[in-house]
Amino acid sequence: MCGIVGYIGDEEAVPVLLKGLKKLEYRGYDSAGIAVLGKSGLLVRKSQGPLKSLEKLIGDETARGALKGTMGIGHTRWATHGEPSDINSHPHTDVSGKIAVVHNGIIENHAKLKAWLVAHGVSFRSETDTEVAAHLIDFHYNGDLLQAVQEALKRLEGSYALGIISESDPDRIIAVRKESPLVIGAGKGENLIASDVPALLEYTRDVYYLEDEEIAVLYRDQVEFYSREGQKLSKEISHVDWDAGAAEKGGYEHFMLKEIHEQPKALTDTLRARIKTYGAKTINLEEIGFDASWAEANRVVIAACGTAWHAAMIGKYIFEHFARIPTDAEIASEYRYRNPIYHPRDIFIIISQSGETADTLAAMRMAKKSGARIIAITNVVGSTLAREADLVMYTWAGPEIAVASTKAFTTQLMCLSLIALQFGLLRKTTTEAALSGYIDALEQLSDQARKILDGKENIQRFASLQFNKAKVFFMGRLFDYAVSLESALKLKEISYTHSEAFAAGELKHGPIALVDTSTLVVAICTQCALFDKMDSNIKEVKARGAATVVITYDGVDYFDKTADEIFRIPRTLDSLTPILSVIPCQLYAYYCAVQRGLDPDKPRNLAKSVTVE
Ligand code: G6P
Repeated sequence: MCGIVGYIGDEEAVPVLLKGLKKLEYRGYDSAGIAVLGKSGLLVRKSQGPLKSLEKLIGDETARGALKGTMGIGHTRWATHGEPSDINSHPHTDVSGKIAVVHNGIIENHAKLKAWLVAHGVSFRSETDTEVAAHLIDFHYNGDLLQAVQEALKRLEGSYALGIISESDPDRIIAVRKESPLVIGAGKGENLIASDVPALLEYTRDVYYLEDEEIAVLYRDQVEFYSREGQKLSKEISHVDWDAGAAEKGGYEHFMLKEIHEQPKALTDTLRARIKTYGAKTINLEEIGFDASWAEANRVVIAACGTAWHAAMIGKYIFEHFARIPTDAEIASEYRYRNPIYHPRDIFIIISQSGETADTLAAMRMAKKSGARIIAITNVVGSTLAREADLVMYTWAGPEIAVASTKAFTTQLMCLSLIALQFGLLRKTTTEAALSGYIDALEQLSDQARKILDGKENIQRFASLQFNKAKVFFMGRLFDYAVSLESALKLKEISYTHSEAFAAGELKHGPIALVDTSTLVVAICTQCALFDKMDSNIKEVKARGAATVVITYDGVDYFDKTADEIFRIPRTLDSLTPILSVIPCQLYAYYCAVQRGLDPDKPRNLAKSVTVE
């Protein structure tokens, strides 16, 4: 995720900015840059790669004192629009190079604004959404930077934290936030901005937290706050008394827990830019070249590994449901050694959080040779998968650092749902009339996920009682079976508990022989039409001495008499439920690992990205 720092004071800005950016490295990034305002004007230096590359780039200049200046902004970029490159790195400047901007978030209407600015004679250098902001501020500049920013904000849609400096306004930094965090550090004779507290702690522990749509104007010796409309605000200062290590994890004990909690935002970010809200709500998938030619496809093949394969499996059901198109979900490591049958109009969807998994790439390359259309779903801009696929749909989940995948999975499901719905519309298996209801359901998922997270203490309590179970089996049917597979994987990955997933109907064909009093069975029961079948399965394992827990909807009392424990989730469509029903299981796995004294972020023998076979 991108990081922002900014400094105005009496010290040399470059070392302060670099130190701040280092403190934000944990967020993950692919390039870095700084802008300094010195005697010779605005100097911008940026470089793809780690901070070390930027330090190398500016090494000579810094030694010669050519980058002197006591005010500046810096950025670590995690690419969303445009691949990682020197040009796409921040800061971005206006045409004259006098205004520099760093940005976190996504400017959703950037394409429209870009077209408008180009029509007004502006030429663009990068592929980023951010560059629009620099030109827009310049467009409105009439001698007052604050006013120009306020005017520009009226046109920006989406989420943003912005740090802005201008050569023509050399005594202040302007900072703005909307739905993307930004903190102001109040020092003595110096003030700072940062996207996250660790970048400030060496200089001050007194901070102002900017709220949505607030503007901060930082001078050397004071900070002023304004509303978007220009009304002056007074804000309370807060004192930070926790250490930098904890702050990097946003106050969470582990990255995994942080990433589980980031799901509501990740879901919104992944969905929002793909929904057109003017007029009747519709889905816009131009990024994957979705057009009438897709109607010629007879089959969809989805290939992936690990958690992403579980998303593929759910994708199969979602495509069959909404688009009524035959869909295969393939384990990439198996697929690559098969002799598969291709159809000329197959659509291949390849899913990979990292975009670097060796088996997944091999499956993709094989499919590509067949001439099929290759669509990638990945979380990493510029990854090998993103570069080699014909078209890419990004999950905007932000960097996933914990080895066990959580927010990547739920956002992959969001992407698959959007494609399936759009496909259904084209194939006339989903009606225009029904679409707006489906979009409403997609939009509600973020709040529904938040509600599950709000009740996490219940799962923590349950894990504190059950974490030592010798065997944990997950069972379900259809969507719930696929979530069972993902849940069993989560639990074994990080808590080393022997966990398996079974299609509930298969229980009597073998797995039930394993059930005894040392077993916990988690039954995922979210499809009303299958409640009675699941109820029988739960009774069968109970009769063999297993402890049972059911995951079902709010308001369902069907299992009250059968299950020992019930976790409830908000109700949504069957096909979207996996996005919610997996969350209690992620939390359960996390708390079991912690109870067992293990580090869930770094499970033994596992790697985040498996780039070798
Ligand atoms: C590794 C990770 C898993 C992940 C799998 C596929 O095994 O530990 O969490 O699901 O790779 O990774 P990808 O980046 O291709 O989604």
